[in-house]
Amino acid sequence: MPGTCVIGLQWGDEAKGKLVDLLTPNFDIVCRYQGGSNAGHTVVTGDQVYKLHLIPSGILNPDTMNIIAPGVVLNPGTIIEELEGLKAKGITAENLMISERVHVVFPWHIAEDRALNAKKVKGESIGTTLRGIGPCYRDKVGRSFAVRLADMLREDFPERVASIVEAKNAMLAPIAGEDFEPLDAAAITAEFSGYAETLRPFVADTTNYLLDAVDESKSILFEGAQGSLLDIDHGTFPFVTSSNSSGVGISSGSGVPARSINKVVGVIKAYSTRVGGGPFPTEQENEIGQQIRDLGNEYGTTTGRPRRCGWFDAVAVRYTARLSGVSALSLMMMDVVSLLPEVKICVAYELDGQRITHFPSDADDLRRVQPIYETFEGWDTDLTAATSYDEFPDAAKAYINRIGELIGIPVEVASVGPDRAQTIVLAESVSHLAGLA
Ligand code: IMP
Repeated sequence: MPGTCVIGLQWGDEAKGKLVDLLTPNFDIVCRYQGGSNAGHTVVTGDQVYKLHLIPSGILNPDTMNIIAPGVVLNPGTIIEELEGLKAKGITAENLMISERVHVVFPWHIAEDRALNAKKVKGESIGTTLRGIGPCYRDKVGRSFAVRLADMLREDFPERVASIVEAKNAMLAPIAGEDFEPLDAAAITAEFSGYAETLRPFVADTTNYLLDAVDESKSILFEGAQGSLLDIDHGTFPFVTSSNSSGVGISSGSGVPARSINKVVGVIKAYSTRVGGGPFPTEQENEIGQQIRDLGNEYGTTTGRPRRCGWFDAVAVRYTARLSGVSALSLMMMDVVSLLPEVKICVAYELDGQRITHFPSDADDLRRVQPIYETFEGWDTDLTAATSYDEFPDAAKAYINRIGELIGIPVEVASVGPDRAQTIVLAESVSHLAGLA
């Protein structure tokens, strides 16, 4: 059985969690392979609401193994809180494995994130989630100060912390400002040794587990975090996250060879949002933007920040759909655009007097582009109770078809609300997402 991946094609928050949750029962394994507690999603079943940052969405299904693969950076305190929250609701998470290779987020990473985020890059703060993600990935690549989960279970862990804290205190003092409180190695060792013991039962060699699963033809669902436009190599650098959040990261983060991943579902919202700094060509800093924010409840799951809102950008999504190797689109929040008086799609940009349809690599160029829009008259229909595509007004269908046409990939699913039942599989193409029809 093949590997399938669910990837966000915009700047994150595309409601991937809902799709993963719907697809999970069809898979033996659900795997998170990049990012960390900067991600956040809510899974709703019946009257229960679960807020997860690190634990894969398949945890609620006891028959699905949930894997946190080496490409993730792990805040142990956060995952333990999530485990405790699940336990309080009767979920013991025996179906969870955490790679011994994951890199651990420590207080020095969070202190550094805070210090550096206050500084401007290209005239603007990156506006990170302040979860220590970037500094942890930097230490991973730098190696000298990196600590993997397996290292926390070693006898020499206290010495390792002591030597890192000494160096980090010296590095942080000049950049962290006057109120910097030096890190305390003994306190950190005690706290994190406790975490290590709590997490010990979950620690495993997930890479070999996944390679065996591939040999045994088990089905694996890869759960992407953030969105492809935040990809460290291919996104709107430097206003990106510190991992490969597009499809290119699946293989490096999980250890599963690329040829075993044969289906990538791209998740898009019917409009665009972004949190944090950076260029956003179709942003609507006006009443329309506020209307989208209110109708879509566009406030961050992890940080509570209001999200920046704007029109759907087909130039950006065509780029990320190709980058992530997407073969099907899932269009979320159709209920939100269905209440707007008119709806726009950006079909091209104008840059220095030229019409372009490629996505610029330079953030300054992206700041300068003028979006070229196609405008659709609104259809003013509450779609939240729709149960089939036939119930969609022609204008809504025209909007969806135009998105599929511009991206060059069919829209196979349209979501009209947060509930599982508010998911419409488009009749023409039901075959692709087995189990949703
Ligand atoms: P970091 O990942 O915390 O370093 O933040 C870098 C950029 O990515 C910031 O603009 C964040 O707002 C954004 N970001 C990180 N995680 C998410 C996410 O899960 N959804 C949306 N944006 C995110």
